Amino acid sequence: MKFSMYSESDRQEIEALFTRTFSDSEGQSEGKLIGQLVHELMIGTETDDMLGFIATEQEQIVGCIFFTRLSFSSPAKAFLLSPVAIDTTHQGTGIGQKLIKFGIRHLGALGVELIFTYGDPSYYSKVGFRQVPEEVAAAPFKLAHPEGWLGQSLDGGSLEFPLGQASCVEPFNDPQYW
Ligand SMILES: CC(C)(COP(=O)(O)OP(=O)(O)OC[C@H]1O[C@@H](n2cnc3c(N)ncnc32)[C@H](O)[C@@H]1OP(=O)(O)O)[C@@H](O)C(=O)NCCC(=O)NCCS
Repeated sequence: MKFSMYSESDRQEIEALFTRTFSDSEGQSEGKLIGQLVHELMIGTETDDMLGFIATEQEQIVGCIFFTRLSFSSPAKAFLLSPVAIDTTHQGTGIGQKLIKFGIRHLGALGVELIFTYGDPSYYSKVGFRQVPEEVAAAPFKLAHPEGWLGQSLDGGSLEFPLGQASCVEPFNDPQYW
């Protein structure tokens, strides 16, 4: 298994990976929605505001994650981890955790201080995330599942001080994702 940054030539394969993985796990319409979201992230986000990483096996992309900039009223350098897809036939073999850790290490080396995500705490706690109260860092939209708002500090700093209200990159500016 090889882990690397994604490149423009991977776009079609990545969109197909997200569409089929989320179709398998959550139904066809969700697959289409997330495929479209990923398409918009890849074509419409400033390169400074987005990083993507892939897991490749025998020249095939079997996993992908994206990180996009989250801005707060405070000057913290923060990114949102979302979405993540591991090809259905490759799930449960540790690729997701390895890919997330690979991406986080890369962001840490670039000086990113905080990473947030919105997902299942039981999964993301395996890769260093813990719950973040809304008073510490408010998610870009009202959350359907506030217990899924998670974060971690990469520079040893605290996630206790109030960061204020987060704003996300344009493709996530839609309450249905939150
Ligand atoms: C969720 C996902 C990214 C996990 O990646 P993965 O490579 O399958 O997971 P790993 O092999 O690294 O980790 C497996 C562990 O996570 C747990 N796990 C896997 N998917 C989980 C989920 N959706 N919720 C909670 N726990 C989960 C497994 O039970 C297993 O636990 P164990 O180590 O205690 O046995 C992957 O299954 C996936 O792409 N699912 C469909 C799309 C999705 O839901 N993406 C996340 C939201 S953006």
